Amino acid sequence: MTDVLPLPQHLSSQEDAFFDLGPDTALVAGEGTGRTERWLRATLGAATGLPLAPTPGGGGVVRLDLDPALPAEGYRLDVAPEGVHLTGGDAAGLFWGAQTLRQLLGPDAFRRAPLPERHWRLPLVRVEDAPRFRWRGLMLDVARHFMPKDGVLRYLDLMAAHKLNVLHFHLTDDQGWRVEITRHPKLTETGAWRSRTKYGHRASPLWEDKPHGGYYTQDDIREIVAYAAERHITVVPEIDVPGHSQAAIAAYPELGNTDVIDTTALSVWDTWGVSPNVLAPTETVLRFYEGVFEELLELFPSEFVHIGGDECPKEQWRRSATAQARIEELALADEDELQAWIIQHFDTWLTERGRRLIGWDEILEGGLAKGAAVASWRGYAGGVAAARAGHDVVMCPEQQVYLDHRQAPGEDEPVPIGFVRTLEDVYRFEPVPAELTPDESGHVIGTQANVWTEVMENQGRVDYQVFPRLAAFAEVAWSALPAPADRDYAAFERRMATHYRRLDALGVAYRPPAGPLPWQRRPGVLGRPIDGPPPNK
Ligand code: ACM
Repeated sequence: MTDVLPLPQHLSSQEDAFFDLGPDTALVAGEGTGRTERWLRATLGAATGLPLAPTPGGGGVVRLDLDPALPAEGYRLDVAPEGVHLTGGDAAGLFWGAQTLRQLLGPDAFRRAPLPERHWRLPLVRVEDAPRFRWRGLMLDVARHFMPKDGVLRYLDLMAAHKLNVLHFHLTDDQGWRVEITRHPKLTETGAWRSRTKYGHRASPLWEDKPHGGYYTQDDIREIVAYAAERHITVVPEIDVPGHSQAAIAAYPELGNTDVIDTTALSVWDTWGVSPNVLAPTETVLRFYEGVFEELLELFPSEFVHIGGDECPKEQWRRSATAQARIEELALADEDELQAWIIQHFDTWLTERGRRLIGWDEILEGGLAKGAAVASWRGYAGGVAAARAGHDVVMCPEQQVYLDHRQAPGEDEPVPIGFVRTLEDVYRFEPVPAELTPDESGHVIGTQANVWTEVMENQGRVDYQVFPRLAAFAEVAWSALPAPADRDYAAFERRMATHYRRLDALGVAYRPPAGPLPWQRRPGVLGRPIDGPPPNK
């Protein structure tokens, strides 16, 4: 009953003593608690069928309050025989406390309608809790395979249930452009669609011979952002520049290196890897993307905006007279400095507009504005260098928390790319590099798990890769766990036994502990597993 996940800082309970919720139990909301009140009424109201009236009616009270003396995003939950008192250090903390409350009601509280004859009771507990990190993220790649809006809203609910608070939304890549930009309509008219889509990893010979794609209208984005905000989740958009841009170039050929190749012949890419077709380092391209970011800033109120910056092959720039002239005009040493110049341009541009740039760790290579932050994906080294240079860091090393990588070594794993990273490996992931001083560690603002979807063509595949590992990741991001070797994985597994039942009630197609179900297994035709880091899946 008290298998709360992620593990709270402090939980004490009384054996065999309960508060029973019934039709006369009231939900009384104090000042500033409206979002959590709405969520409890809608979500717990649906799951339990209880009216949760706003004024006391003799069946005990669930009372919501704020107390700024509690930590940021922290909460205290008291369940006594007379009722529940949930207090947040702020509105977000109160919401995370409501997630704990739902867990304490049992797995059926995760359903969308009540089971017949179900009674609802809470164990008498006191929970005091607050997160370890302020950035507890999940990156969703909706470019390689589009996730329709409903799926994104569902993932926001799944994140909230795990107390995760940043959705890093990877909206553009070589294989698709997923956000409507009204001043450049072809980005989605052309760039959101590919004529066929690949099944399996990069070397797979299989394509599905029907168009794949989709995009979010600006109203869809507004809805996603608002839905996230109701759940105290920030959506950080990513527009990847200057590499990973073939979909944009297919839509607007003038964005590419037109003096090197015939960019009018390019289509949205239909295979995996890193496309050599990158943006041209021209004023036209800068103005075009400023226009894109102007619309983006209207849609996304997040402090951070992600500009990608990863994996930009320089071959076309080496062969382009235009790029070479630009290098000379700016007195740059080489193509790497040209990339840094583009990143710095958007760093300044975003800073002038009161936002902060975040990018993949390649952006460190050219020098950054003080406020810029780094997502360390090629291991820990980028994060260490960034923190030492005084930049904030989000740790998401591919060796640990790339959830596209397989979670067991067996032949049965569906499309088994990458390192084997088990549930236990994720549980023992430590976001703060050991070599940082306490001061430097303060720059590690958090961590995120990244979900690249080359080999995840539908919701079931995404669920399989993400769960149960996201539960372990959530505990790493939220809970004050000891050093990796000292973490009590057996206790985590015991709590997972309850958590699997919550995931069942939520309809999550996770990887079962005993291995994939028959329909989740790898079809034999996709070739042998690829070992080691897939440079590009
Ligand atoms: C990345 O995985 N290319 C950031």
